[in-house]
Amino acid sequence: MKKIARAHTNIALIKYWGKQNAALRIPLMSSLSMTLDAFYTDTYLEPSQQEQFYLNGKLIEGPEAQRVFNYLHLLQRRYGKSGNLSVHSQNHVPTAAGLASSSSAFAALAAAFAEYYQLAVNETELSRMARLGSGSASRSVFGGFAVWQKGTDDQSSFAYSLDSNPDLDLQLLAVEINTGAKKRSSTKGMQAAQTSPFFAPWIKRNSLELSQMINAIKNHDFTRIGQLAELNASEMHAVNLTAQPGFTYFEPTTIGVIQLVHEMRQNGIEVYYTIDAGPNVKLLCQLKNVKIVKEKLVSAFDHVKIINASFGPGIQYLDNY
Ligand code: DP6
Repeated sequence: MKKIARAHTNIALIKYWGKQNAALRIPLMSSLSMTLDAFYTDTYLEPSQQEQFYLNGKLIEGPEAQRVFNYLHLLQRRYGKSGNLSVHSQNHVPTAAGLASSSSAFAALAAAFAEYYQLAVNETELSRMARLGSGSASRSVFGGFAVWQKGTDDQSSFAYSLDSNPDLDLQLLAVEINTGAKKRSSTKGMQAAQTSPFFAPWIKRNSLELSQMINAIKNHDFTRIGQLAELNASEMHAVNLTAQPGFTYFEPTTIGVIQLVHEMRQNGIEVYYTIDAGPNVKLLCQLKNVKIVKEKLVSAFDHVKIINASFGPGIQYLDNY
């Protein structure tokens, strides 16, 4: 009996936001992430007369399904396989989370593909396979903290585990502001960002920020991790604003939450933010501050939903439901 592949989503603390090779998804910068326990995708493949993609039990058609089929064709070419497949995915991302699920989706799909064909692939190759579906998925192969080294070609661009089970009090609060589909995909956003005059200087800073973050993680230094994550995310959004033409994923409430974070820190509550290609904010804090941070958010913005997460595991294979 074939097993179901489970992958958890990850949040980048040092962002991937640009490609040197779009077809192979080789990034311009290395990135570092935290895999989350609260959000994951389960996927298995079956032989089928026709290609089909079921998400949460519903048949999906159109560009979302096509991206999945194109990805499977790419993997089939890579491993000399053929035949139509039916994909069954269950997203365990609370609908309110507003969290991008392409990292867990493509990591689970890569692992389901390896399981279906019983490929003898190690985690490094699994990470390369996941990368070909969505860059951030390369990191979801691993639990805890993972680093995706940018590399220069398919072989050298993969993620590795930095610390699979960190002994660190780091809580993530996913603040849902708007769960609607984003107006500009990550793929398009990172392409447009390269027209910013600040893009090249930001890329230059990447190796410094990455090594500082790795040190902060090794030292279990929550403050430094939070400061660096917030700086790196703000730089990503600064290159978006200064692109030609400029754009932003921020909504008024996104700015409101950023201001509240600044205010909370001025009042001695240690909390930092990171933001991806959408309006939702992820806050980083320690367990002792989770309650107060949630209270402040709810009293300032009555319509936001908040979901707690902490470190999650890497790829898992489960017996069929
Ligand atoms: C802002 O991995 O979704 O979340 O490779 O084009 O599919 P593609 O991009 P994707 O981009 C993620 C961008 C980010 C930062 C990050 O996760 O590193």
